[in-house]
Amino acid sequence: NKPTYKEPFRPQFHFTPYHNWMNDPNGLVYYKGEYHLFYQYNPMGNTWGHMSWGHAVSRDLVRWQPLALAIPEDDKNMIFSGSCVVDKNNSSGFGKKPGQIPLVAIYTAHIIPDKTKPDDYQQNQHIAYSLDDGRTWKKYDGNPVLDLKKKDFRDPKVFWYGPGKKWIMAIVLPQEHIVQFHGSTDLKTWSHLSDFGPAGDTNDIWECPDLLQVPITGQPGKSKWVLINSQQTTMQYFVGEFDGIRFQNENPADTILRPDYGPDFYAAVTYNNLPPGQDPVLLGWANNWKYGQSIPTSPWRSAMSVPRSLRLKKSGNTWILLQQPVKSLLSLRGNVTEWKSKIISGETVFPAKGQVIELDADLIPAKNAICGVRLAAGGGQSIIIGYNADSAKLYIDRSNSGNTYFNNQFAAWQYSSARVPLQDGKLRLHIFFDKSIVEVFANDGATVLTAQLFPSATHDGIEFFSEKGPTRIPIAKVWSLSSAWK
Ligand code: FRU
Repeated sequence: NKPTYKEPFRPQFHFTPYHNWMNDPNGLVYYKGEYHLFYQYNPMGNTWGHMSWGHAVSRDLVRWQPLALAIPEDDKNMIFSGSCVVDKNNSSGFGKKPGQIPLVAIYTAHIIPDKTKPDDYQQNQHIAYSLDDGRTWKKYDGNPVLDLKKKDFRDPKVFWYGPGKKWIMAIVLPQEHIVQFHGSTDLKTWSHLSDFGPAGDTNDIWECPDLLQVPITGQPGKSKWVLINSQQTTMQYFVGEFDGIRFQNENPADTILRPDYGPDFYAAVTYNNLPPGQDPVLLGWANNWKYGQSIPTSPWRSAMSVPRSLRLKKSGNTWILLQQPVKSLLSLRGNVTEWKSKIISGETVFPAKGQVIELDADLIPAKNAICGVRLAAGGGQSIIIGYNADSAKLYIDRSNSGNTYFNNQFAAWQYSSARVPLQDGKLRLHIFFDKSIVEVFANDGATVLTAQLFPSATHDGIEFFSEKGPTRIPIAKVWSLSSAWK
């Protein structure tokens, strides 16, 4: 009973598992021409539980080949989020033959609670290794490799730090709003280096940290360090320097910056070991813990975002992350429909349709106009991607976008917005719509919003609108995209 990938709401170019529940991306690593995607997976059902690492690989970050379960839970531990490294010098000693390069996974073991002792559970860090390019895994018999005897201590992201010739782990103390850094030379013994936080948004628990170097756009060879963390049910980032021990935020302390301002982007982390010269690639879970387990999809639940390439730019005194959908998505483009020099006043239907599309448009709104585009339009319903020129806010309104009734928390997240100043009087909207996910990249990816929607399959219209004044559209293009699941 192999799924057809034609089920209602099934994304066509976002990764989804054949069956069952998925959450965070884990162990993102590039090795021997393959982008590995491990992920939090329930092999037994379509809601959270029995957490294990599922696995898929891709050569272009768009077309995925599902593989067998990589790291299963056992009778003591669930396998929570973590990362994966290529141990090129066999620092761990897991390589058995000369020149054999182990892949090492570093993850949180979540001890399955003993019902007779309800407070007795904890989280500590384990490793497992693969000697066959990630196909099969063996848990290290010296686990745990890092244990603070804490109830909450999780989501290790490990990477190689060249200048210090050591492995660095970023990991969170969720309740304390702290990202800790630990160092190691063999992945088996770890020593504490420093703490970052509390800082920025501390309204809820912190999860899934990542620390990485991101190139500065327009300054070849220059980069800054970015610290990302998830913070139920949104994310934030800091930009500054890392000296091998400590991360120092250089952005204004009172500014909260988010990789995504929509309701459905969480637990995002980046790839390890990318080829030199390739910009970092960020991948997130396109769902939300508040209602994620009841979204109306079957036999799977949850998709990953499209992979996004990262750069930085400085705007005033603040470093901003720029996110671009990876270039290989261009290979899915089919028919294009184009508008040139249009003026919208009221509403105009675009001469193309589709629920698997890419849209790229420049909007020049009149001073106080409220303008934008409606997708999945039909039967009086649509999802609205709008811009209020007066408040400079870009918003998504999914309150009348289809099935919004499956969970009352979904309604609470039906509207999201972010400030997006016009650039030379223009708003550039680059949108990917894929059956049940819309990702909006505004002004070259300086602001991104991701949202799920569950529209009727026949609602596939595209409409532009402008109220309280006209909007000029010098150019708008819509491509139909082909499925990545052939
Ligand atoms: C984030 C998270 C992680 C944890 C995993 C468990 O979504 O809560 O902190 O490792 O999911 O599935």
